[in-house]
This record gives sequence, structure tokens and C-alpha cells, in this order.
Amino acid sequence: MFRFETLRPQQDDRLAFLKGFLRQPRDVGSVIPSSRFLERKMVRMAGVAQAQSVIELGPGTGGTTRAILAAMPESATLLAIELDPAFADHIREIDDRRLIVHQGSAEQLAEVIVAHRLRPPDAILSGIPFSTMPHEVGTRIIEAIRDVLAPGGRFVAYQFRAAVAERAKPILGEPEVSAEFLNIPPMRVYRWRKR
Ligand SMILES: C[S@@+](CC[C@H](N)C(=O)[O-])C[C@H]1O[C@@H](n2cnc3c(N)ncnc32)[C@H](O)[C@@H]1O
Repeated sequence: MFRFETLRPQQDDRLAFLKGFLRQPRDVGSVIPSSRFLERKMVRMAGVAQAQSVIELGPGTGGTTRAILAAMPESATLLAIELDPAFADHIREIDDRRLIVHQGSAEQLAEVIVAHRLRPPDAILSGIPFSTMPHEVGTRIIEAIRDVLAPGGRFVAYQFRAAVAERAKPILGEPEVSAEFLNIPPMRVYRWRKR
């Protein structure tokens, strides 16, 4: 039976997330972290279970990060890039040797990959709010994603608004789209594959 409770993340994460929203509403873009349903959908769409090098943009309080780690092979590496220093510290509490946390902007994606000597990512997952960031910043982030993805690599972005798709179409082409209604608010999940 469906239980409304499963839509809700853990209490302490929810409080930390709300505090983050109050600090930087435009950067965080939501008052509540993603639901378990959305976490599972984006992990599945990104093919995390088959990936060796994974990147998460905007992990927030880490529910999505934990879902990625749970699905990832033991030999894989996850780089989480988070703009908010308090959220980055929160993520560093996750005890998993496969996780690397970088505090900074997704705009620095290429440099951070080189600094950590990571393989080109097979999957990049993003929850960052493209609708509230300057147009040119969003474009730079998507160009960086196009440049760093491994051949066949997947870029999965979940968003309430369509801003990420509008920014990405000229750079990455038409996405596949799937809706996740069991989330507050309901989300669109977009996927692009690098040829
Ligand atoms: C909607 S929240 C998603 C949090 C979490 N992944 C989830 O789904 O519950 C967006 C996150 O992106 C981060 N963020 C916003 N702009 C960013 C940027 N340019 N680079 C990295 N992280 C960014 C915010 O600080 C926030 O943690």
C-alpha cells in the first residue's frame, strides 16, 4: 500500500534542507528534499548500477547521494559538487570510501575532475535549479557536461520547470522525459545520452 510518509525524507535532513533554502532560496530552489520515488527514478534513468564514474551536481543534504551510492558498484567513484558550504559539510558526514565531496560550483566541473584524476563520467545527475541561475551560467554548466561525459554517458536532470531542457537542447539535443508525480512538487526527469 502506498504510504504518504515514503515521500518524505528523514526529519533532520528536512530541517537542514529548509535552513539551506532560507539561506539561499534561489540556489536551493525547493523547501523539501527529493522523495524516495524521485531518487530511485533518477538513479535508474542514469544507469548508475552500470557506471564506474558518477558525478552528482547539487547533492543538498544527501538523500540523492545515498541513493546513488546504494545503487553504484563497489568499484565505482561518486564525485558530489555542492555550492553551499553547510550542505557540503553535511554530505562529508556520509561514511563511504567511494564518495568525494567538492564544495564549489558545477561550473568548475572539468577542473574538479582533473584535480581528482577521475575517469570521464558515465553518469552525471543534477538537481541544481537552472531556472533561477543566470542564463550564461546554466549554458556554461551544460557545455562542461557535454565536454566531460564519456561516450555513451548519461546526463539526468530533475526539475520542476523546463529551464534545464531549454538551456540544454541547443547543446545536447532533444531529451527523453519522464514525470515523477510522487514528489513535492512533481518533477520532470530529463535524460540525454552522449553519442
Ligand atoms: C533542489 S536542491 C537538490 C538537493 C538534493 N539533490 C535533492 O534532490 O534533494 C539543489 C541543490 O543544488 C545546489 N546548487 C545550486 N547551484 C549550484 C551550482 N552552481 N553548483 C553546485 N551546486 C549547486 C544547491 O545548494 C542545492 O543543494
